This record gives sequence, C-alpha cells and structure tokens, in this order.
Amino acid sequence: MMIISAEAGTCSYDIIVGALEHARSSLRRLAAGRTLPVVTDERVWFLHGERLAAILPVEPILVPEGEAAKDWAGLRQLIARFTAMNLDRSSPVIALGGGSIGDLTGLASGLFKRGCPVIHIPTTLLAQADSAVGGKTAIDAEGQKNLVGMFHQPALVLADVGFLDTLDERQLRAGYAEIVKYALIGHQIVFDWLEDHGHAILSGNREMREEAVRQCIAAKVRVVEADPEDRNGLRALLNFGHTFAHAIESVAGLGSVLHGEAVSIGMVLASAFSAKLGLCPASEAARVRRHLAQASLPTTLAEVRVDPGALLPLMAGDKKNQAGRLRLVLSHGIGRAFLSDGVDAEQLRQFLASVE
Ligand SMILES: NC(=O)c1ccc[n+]([C@@H]2O[C@H](COP(=O)([O-])OP(=O)(O)OC[C@H]3O[C@@H](n4cnc5c(N)ncnc54)[C@H](O)[C@@H]3O)[C@@H](O)[C@H]2O)c1
Ligand SMILES: [Zn+2]
Repeated sequence: MMIISAEAGTCSYDIIVGALEHARSSLRRLAAGRTLPVVTDERVWFLHGERLAAILPVEPILVPEGEAAKDWAGLRQLIARFTAMNLDRSSPVIALGGGSIGDLTGLASGLFKRGCPVIHIPTTLLAQADSAVGGKTAIDAEGQKNLVGMFHQPALVLADVGFLDTLDERQLRAGYAEIVKYALIGHQIVFDWLEDHGHAILSGNREMREEAVRQCIAAKVRVVEADPEDRNGLRALLNFGHTFAHAIESVAGLGSVLHGEAVSIGMVLASAFSAKLGLCPASEAARVRRHLAQASLPTTLAEVRVDPGALLPLMAGDKKNQAGRLRLVLSHGIGRAFLSDGVDAEQLRQFLASVE
C-alpha cells in the first residue's frame, strides 16, 4: 500500500494505492458512523459492492453505465436522492466506478448544499490512473462533452487495482491510453518502461498495474499542485491529445468512442501535427503511434469513422482557447509536451485534410 498526499489550493487529501480493505480506518473515520450513499452502476455494484459494504454501511444509488450517466437527468437524480437521504454538508458521498461516475458524483457533491465531501473509489484503469485525482467534475450538455462542471477536490481517493480484474479489455486499453499520455507529457523514461511492460499491464500483472497507476497519480499530483484550477498553463499539459479527442468524441456521438480511445487517436494526431510543424522528430511521432497500435488502440480517425474535416470547428471552440487564438498541447518529442498558444487554424486545417 502507498499513500500519496495531494495539496490543491486550500485542500489536501490522501490517495491510497492498495487494497480497499487497507483503507478501512480512513473510510470509517470519514463516515463517522453514518450510512454513506454510494453512486455506482449496476454492473460495478454487482461485481464489487459487497466488498465495500463489508467495510462500512452504505446505500447504493444506481445510475446508467458509462458516459450516459453524465447528463442533467443523472445530476438531478443524485441531488434528489441526497435530499431524500437528508445528507448534511459534512456527510461524504462515495463514487464507486469509472470516470463517468466520478465526474457526475463529483459535480453533484460539489453542488449539493454548496459542497459536501466526495470519496473516489475508481474501478477502471482510466479513473485510477487519471480522473479520480485532481478535482475536475462535469456532465455533458448541449451535445458537448464536459460543458457543465466545477472543481471539487475529493476528501479521499482509493485506487485498488484488484478491481481491474473484472474490467473488459476494451475499457482496459482505453485506460492504458491515459497512462501513455503521462509518459508522453513529461516522462520519456516511463515511455521506455511502457514499451517493455505495456503488455504485462494489459494482460493482468497486478504489480505492474499498481506501479503504472502510482506513477501516473504521482505525476498528476505534481501538475495539479502547481496549477489546481487549470489557470497557469501547467495543468493544460494534461490535455495532451485531448483537444482532438474531445472533438472526436463529439463528432462520433458522445459515448460511442471511449474517451481513452479518442485520446489515443488525439495523441497520435498531436504528435504528427507537431512533426509536421517541424517541432518534433517524425521518428518519435511514429514511435508513439506504433506503441498505441501495439496496445490495440485506435490510431486513425478512419477506425472510428470520423471525418477529419468535422474536427476543426469543434477544436476552435474548445475551452482551452483564449482570446480567439487556438491553444493546443504540442510536443517537442516523447516526454516533452508543451502548451502552444498561437496555433494557426489554417495550418491545422491543412494537416487535418492530410490525415487518414
Ligand atoms: N475528471 C477528470 O479529470 C477526467 C479525466 C479523464 C477522463 N474523465 C472522464 O472519464 C470518463 C471515462 O471514464 P472511464 O474510462 O473510466 O469509463 P466510464 O466510467 O465511462 O465507463 C466505465 C464502464 O466500465 C464498467 N466498469 C467500471 N469498472 C468496472 C470493473 N471494475 N469491472 C467491470 N466493469 C467495470 C462500467 O459499468 C462502465 O460500463 C469520461 O467521461 C471522461 O470525460 C474525467
Ligand atoms: Zn482524459
């Protein structure tokens, strides 16, 4: 078991990487004798609910699976249930599931009575390695991904890679894309390590999985501490590949391409665009694509049937753009991502016209 402490503005919280049962005392301390609501979906509750219920009294609130949970109806349902349970502001809510459940529950708990504590117990590789830490919450609205959200830092995060044993392969690979992202942003050595051990991570080696999750969480905590609310450009690096990815998810129809799959294609495009602009060696962009393809992740828009021409208008409207300029995370090479403020939309259009 390992405990990583995170400071975010005025809050601090622990992230426990290890078996859920090792976090028994932390959970019970936060619960303070109350029955805690657990937001989850039917599948996760059926597979893993018992383990949690054996540790403390909980009441499940079931929401739809995956991205479908992240909408106004889901948010309204949670607020209604919290009200019916008569939760007070100090009463924690547990999010047990993937990133979608974490995002929805984080937002509902952030809004309820101006904020009650949320405990994240992520059960997908993506949520453990990435989304459960950092306090970003959101639902989708008006056809746009994560349009409505807020920052709400968790009270505790418990990442137990044992949950991943029941995760299907497609979800696992999608999560792996976010692990590759951390390597591409700032850790060339981790990318080398992933080239050697990616197969073990994907095929179920718990030790390697825990190591990968730990590395990503530690990297994310460093970035989030330096830029808790995504204001000074540092945290924007975590969006490597994501401006492309969010546009891909919107064009494909929210929920049809998994977030991590879109991120995989997005990172290939961001690397290739960087190479085309002469910023990154073409050989490194090719290495990125090769590794993701070896992990059986999609690396082209054609694989997810997305028309490249449809991406630009969505990318130009992305939240990361400021004062009308196109902001994009680009790369000088593996492990060397940087935020570019003045990307020329015409160059991006030409690049998109040239990709598969
Ligand atoms: N807040 C952030 O910082 C942040 C970062 C990255 C991604 N996200 C968001 O996370 C979402 C994607 O999350 P995700 O990839 O975790 O998927 P998800 O939450 O959308 O779906 C997970 C699916 O896997 C199933 N599942 C979950 N755990 C399981 C387990 N242990 N065994 C078997 N099945 C299991 C669920 O029932 C569900 O069908 C996107 O909405 C994305 O925008 C948020
Ligand atoms: Zn992501």
